[in-house]
Amino acid sequence: TTKAVILVGGPSRGTRFRPLSLDLPKPLFEVAGHPIISHCFAAITRVPEIREVFIVGYYDEAVFRDFIKDCGRDHPNISVRYLREYQALGTAGGLYHFRDAILKGRPDRFFVLNADVCCSFPLEQMLRLFEEKDAEAVILGTRVTNEAASNFGCIVSDAHSKRVLHYVEKPESHISNLINCGVYLFATDTIFPSIKSAMKRRADRPRLLSYPSSDVLDTQYLPPGNDEDGEKTEVIRIEQDILSDLADSRQFFVLETKDFWRQIKTAGSAVPANALYLMKAFQTQSEELAKPSANILPPVFIHPTANVDPTAKLGPNVSIGPRATIGAGVRIKEAIVLEDAEIRHDACILYAIIGWNSRIGAWARVEGTPTPVREHSTSVVKNGVKVQSITILGKECTVGDEVRVQNCICLPYKELKRDVANEVIM
Ligand code: GDD
Ligand code: GTP
Repeated sequence: TTKAVILVGGPSRGTRFRPLSLDLPKPLFEVAGHPIISHCFAAITRVPEIREVFIVGYYDEAVFRDFIKDCGRDHPNISVRYLREYQALGTAGGLYHFRDAILKGRPDRFFVLNADVCCSFPLEQMLRLFEEKDAEAVILGTRVTNEAASNFGCIVSDAHSKRVLHYVEKPESHISNLINCGVYLFATDTIFPSIKSAMKRRADRPRLLSYPSSDVLDTQYLPPGNDEDGEKTEVIRIEQDILSDLADSRQFFVLETKDFWRQIKTAGSAVPANALYLMKAFQTQSEELAKPSANILPPVFIHPTANVDPTAKLGPNVSIGPRATIGAGVRIKEAIVLEDAEIRHDACILYAIIGWNSRIGAWARVEGTPTPVREHSTSVVKNGVKVQSITILGKECTVGDEVRVQNCICLPYKELKRDVANEVIM
């Protein structure tokens, strides 16, 4: 049998998702009408042999309770449990800590999904490759531009056999443009011993407080902890500590997806993720989407409780949340409008996220700038300065009538009475 683990991290992560993560844990933020994590879960439910799913992280127990309840109601034959790390143990540390739960019932293999990626999760194809090669591990890979590649784990593979020859996490110089999508399939009988030997290697070596990281905001300096056995515990990561060893094992393969893939790190990246999941829903003729018409340019998701004036023009790539109100003559495109927001008549919302309970005045404009999909970035250069491409209003912001907000991030509870551009409003 096969199980699945979704890695969700915890409250100290997702800092780049601010200001939206100030009010909601990132995995629960809704894109295309559903929490980010539920897109991962939906993919898992399409693999018939998976009956058990673990959500592993260090958020409070209560955070995923309602989500898990919903999963149980929609998929009564799949068990979903939240396993909480007492502190951040790292992507592999969490798996190891909960190995008894994962190993129970002797599954042959299990999937690991980073919760913060948006893709079509071709899990069945990964399973097929795993079986065909009698693999120890299969990783999902995708091609990005050479410039973008160094922000991700990079894979060097043999094109013919699909074997992973070499793996480097966020390399300093270019080694490959085939990158780690954050989706893995591991054989249970080899992954736990390799985590264990990585831990042992670490214990035998002078201790590093933290790995150098290209991403300063996410770097964590964790105090050393002790687990029940009195062993030193430190952060153990799949990427840095496990994958390069696996590459030496000869039984590590990559499935290269040609389908869409995006990372969801910054708050702005929710806009492309929303677009990609909406386009996928449109291609599969999902009943959830709004019916196309003269004023609805697909794909558009409108929550059944939202109130949209028929003269408002929406789409493409728009999600309207529960109880939101969209007035007459409004134009919205490439945007997410969250719960209880109100957009007054003739306002225009482009490349933006409108926070919960925010109010946008009549004839106001809230706009960002499109970013080229291939760049995997949510900032753009304007007049030689790097600015936010997607405009984001946090919870309960107010934009006055006729006010124009361009390329800004606005923290919760702010009131914008005059035009602003290229600013972070704190
Ligand atoms: N449970 C748990 N415990 N989860 C964690 C922990 C932890 O201590 N640390 C991170 N995670 C979760 C995050 O929530 C995320 O879903 C995933 O593990 C990976 O997060 P990071 O460790 O921040 O890595 P990254 O996102 O910068 O890069 C990873 O993903 C890229 C693809 O999006 C790497 O795997 C890259 O190689 C990869 O390209
Ligand atoms: P469509 O014909 O609507 O597809 O527009 P377009 O392709 O010419 O432009 P785009 O969709 O990129 O977005 C701008 C459109 O939104 C304009 O054509 C206007 O119809 C509309 N629009 C722009 N500014 C405003 C505004 O301030 N208020 C309102 N209500 N609509 C606006």
